[in-house]
Amino acid sequence: MFARNALRVASKPAFTPRALRSASTLTTSSSVSDNMNPHGVEISKAQRVAQDGFVSAIGNTPLIRLKTLSQQTGCEILGKAEFQNPGGSVKDRAALYVVEDAEKRGLLQPGGTVVEGTAGNTGIGLAHVCRSKGYQLVIYMPNTQSQGKIDLLRLLGADVRPVPAVAFDNPENYNHQARRHAESLTNAVWTNQFDNVANRQAHIETTGPEIWHQTGGQLDAFTCASGTAGTIAGVTRYLKDASDGRVQCWLADPPGSVLYSYISSGGQLTERKGGSITEGIGQGRVTDNLKPDIDLLDGALHVPDAESIEMVYRCLDEEGLYLGASSALNVAAARNLAVKLGPGKTVVTILCDGAYRYADRLFSRKWLVEKGLLGAIPERLHKYIVLE
Ligand SMILES: Cc1ncc(COP(=O)(O)O)c(C=O)c1O
Repeated sequence: MFARNALRVASKPAFTPRALRSASTLTTSSSVSDNMNPHGVEISKAQRVAQDGFVSAIGNTPLIRLKTLSQQTGCEILGKAEFQNPGGSVKDRAALYVVEDAEKRGLLQPGGTVVEGTAGNTGIGLAHVCRSKGYQLVIYMPNTQSQGKIDLLRLLGADVRPVPAVAFDNPENYNHQARRHAESLTNAVWTNQFDNVANRQAHIETTGPEIWHQTGGQLDAFTCASGTAGTIAGVTRYLKDASDGRVQCWLADPPGSVLYSYISSGGQLTERKGGSITEGIGQGRVTDNLKPDIDLLDGALHVPDAESIEMVYRCLDEEGLYLGASSALNVAAARNLAVKLGPGKTVVTILCDGAYRYADRLFSRKWLVEKGLLGAIPERLHKYIVLE
């Protein structure tokens, strides 16, 4: 266990772009006592008024010790509670950075329009950030997405445009339509989350420094999955720099993604097998967000869906954490990495979002049977399968 002081420092740095630029120099344990109120309750800057509204409430999420897995492995397994971001996921950070990057580059003036191709958490994060800053948001997505996803983005104020689901090399692919739409407007930007490195920068300037401070620099390893790769690349870059290369960083990968084979083979193979129940992760290419940092990775861990779904249920039962499948995959990867590294190590991962948007599948007996995953859930946890 690391020193209590280091843990107290956890939520101190305020998440504003200005503060974040100097995040790595923000905290000292001696200043923590200045933040004690008369009742001895620590008040961190992050818990004070978020002066700039929604956007200044992003980040500074807790780092939660996963008790049972830590006990079982003899390691400290810690999950960064990104589901506590105000938009509900790790993607709030990227959404803020891509929008503020467009502002800084003069591409977006008051009243402007943000355009993105997404069906997931990036759209939700962007919708909140755009409302908070007074921008319009247009979202292109494949028309194979559920009505629930479309409705959610619409009720958050986005103009949602479902378009035929065609491959990336087809000009009618939703990403290309998003780019063309932004180009057709004045005062508009296509935020291009996969290849816009402002996404990765969010994690270099915020997630990475927060993890470093929260553990007092005493972590041994970090692992998480990749969608755009903003999180894994940015956190890896920061932790490698801060620790002089000491902290091991491993990509966690679901079935259907090429990255496990690419990284394990030193860039020789791009094998892709099957598909996954996880959403928002898995990748068919090395994005611009991943390119600068892929060589820093120590390796990749393949996590089958059976392990991810079991971990959804275990986190709920053992930790009281209601997590989506990508978070559960990350936890399974952290556990596997801890076992690989041996007792006494501290391993950190990302709890990307909650299970709320996925509950109708993850906790449905019918769906679990259809996916061949019912048997992956231990009998004692079947009480959580409450939906038909
Ligand atoms: C639920 C979930 N987990 C993980 C990720 C991956 O994060 P990143 O895009 O930073 O690789 C995403 C991205 O959309 C996501 O929605």
